[in-house]
Amino acid sequence: MSKVIDRNDIEMLVRRHLQELGVDSGFGKKREYIVAANWKMNMSEKETKKFLEEMKGMDIAENIRVMIFPPYPYLYLFKEKLRYEKIAYGAQDVAKEEKGAYTGEVSAAMLGDMGCPLTLVGHSERRSYYGDTSDIVAKKAKAALEHQITPMICIGETLEERKSRRYEQVLKGQLDAVYACLGKRISECLIAYEPVWAIGTGVIPTLKEISETHAYIHQVLRDYGVSEQNIKILYGGSVSAGNVRDIASVEHVDGFLIGGASLKADSFKKIIRLASEV
Ligand code: PGA
Repeated sequence: MSKVIDRNDIEMLVRRHLQELGVDSGFGKKREYIVAANWKMNMSEKETKKFLEEMKGMDIAENIRVMIFPPYPYLYLFKEKLRYEKIAYGAQDVAKEEKGAYTGEVSAAMLGDMGCPLTLVGHSERRSYYGDTSDIVAKKAKAALEHQITPMICIGETLEERKSRRYEQVLKGQLDAVYACLGKRISECLIAYEPVWAIGTGVIPTLKEISETHAYIHQVLRDYGVSEQNIKILYGGSVSAGNVRDIASVEHVDGFLIGGASLKADSFKKIIRLASEV
């Protein structure tokens, strides 16, 4: 009786054949995803410790990179507890200035002291409540890069901008400001596309809208000379265990920036696991 060949067998045969030919085609490799938690102004010291205990020793799949952005006062806990874990952490914002009389600000050098390899910049809550214009966001990204900290630049349109079909123009404007300040170094940043109307609302764009918007962002980046392979674009806004697999299946989605659903270790771990299975 002839053996039924399944998809895994075919993948293995093709991979072996390509290896013999000395070709690394990436065939059969799992897509890589960044799963990032934005805690905003939530969690206490006690809750943070508990969360980190629950994350410890988690078997994180090869194709997943986990990142957590806690409030500033708890960064020290990540420095102490996560040293040997496969989880990167960062701040939710950074000063654009280097140092000096800027009460309330935290500099990129200070984040470096806390062991942060990452920081968010330009989250829509910073843009709308604290006056972070695209120029300020660009300067913050620059300050981070100067201290070897990777900025995750958040961009996104409001519902009104989406409905009036001005979203492309808005996203381009947000990116242009960064490019004007960083030039090609924009490729050293991560981009998080977060439609403002999807943040904390439980509403997400259609998969087609996500796909088209990520493709548009790549088009803008290509015009700066940054190819698709050289930059990652995450999606953010109401990501949950219930929708992460669908969103992960969308072309050009390299990861997720998660607010509400990242506040409990259980739910965050579930999202990490689901993303690794796509
Ligand atoms: P949400 O937040 O997942 O709660 O919508 C996402 C974000 O603001 O980064």
